[in-house]
Amino acid sequence: MAEAYNPFSLQGKIILVTGASSGIGQATAIECSKLGAKVVLCARNAEKLQETFAQLEGEGHSQILAELTSAEDVADLAEQAPEMDGLVLCAGKGLTLPFPFCTREKYDDIFNINFFSTVETLRLLVKKKKLSKGASVVIVASIGGVGVFSVGNAIYGASKAALTSTMKFCAKELAVKKIRVNSVNPGMTNTKLINRGSLTEEQFQADMERYPLKRYGEPEDIANGIVYLLSDASSWVTGHALVIDGGVSI
Ligand SMILES: NC(=O)c1ccc[n+]([C@@H]2O[C@H](COP(=O)([O-])OP(=O)(O)OC[C@H]3O[C@@H](n4cnc5c(N)ncnc54)[C@H](OP(=O)(O)O)[C@@H]3O)[C@@H](O)[C@H]2O)c1
Repeated sequence: MAEAYNPFSLQGKIILVTGASSGIGQATAIECSKLGAKVVLCARNAEKLQETFAQLEGEGHSQILAELTSAEDVADLAEQAPEMDGLVLCAGKGLTLPFPFCTREKYDDIFNINFFSTVETLRLLVKKKKLSKGASVVIVASIGGVGVFSVGNAIYGASKAALTSTMKFCAKELAVKKIRVNSVNPGMTNTKLINRGSLTEEQFQADMERYPLKRYGEPEDIANGIVYLLSDASSWVTGHALVIDGGVSI
């Protein structure tokens, strides 16, 4: 009996994960499958998505290819998606840029994927009644969205602040449908998003020293927080921004 007890089980739940081809989204999809969920993977790159698919445990998983900045693709995704118990909106990209270079074009580029595509995906899935009663939505934001203001992070941080704020509005509004909406707000996490050549190895090491736990996060550290928010263990939690950051924002 004790062996089977698991308040974080996702057994039988259908969970759609965007950004599932890499990093945090990939780790989340794999963890969800290990906990018994049927996962619908979403990203643009078919080959990388297949790599995630091959690592899933259990059966009944599926894949949907979508460029989430395309209105047409988001509409197709909302059409194809099954009714679901969980939705993880993880697709996004990073940008570090000194403020004088933060042009409208750069804002549009980052906001299009990080903010507008995320909100539009959620909006259409709600409108098409693809989120079942009691469903849990988890938006992957960032500590940049909850008052950690790093140099060069103006655009990215603003996109994640907008997401975190929208999460709270949606949590209040969708509670009537018993849909919960939360975010996870990670600190620096070892994925290809941060290894894009903007810092030298020495700069990475120095930055890591700022973290009380003296390391960056692993994708699984973030996935475990997402699993909590997807599971029935968090059934009284909505409108919450869960910071997972090794203590750097203390
Ligand atoms: N790593 C960090 O330090 C960190 C910290 C805080 C928050 N985050 C957030 O965590 C989320 C996941 O990032 P990650 O670190 O796991 O980065 P990653 O490894 O680069 O993964 C990004 C994912 O987003 C997908 N994606 C990007 N643009 C897309 C588009 N236009 N349409 C559809 N899918 C798109 C990518 O899929 P394809 O390229 O295959 O389409 C990929 O699956 C992001 O929202 C990021 O802002 C990351």
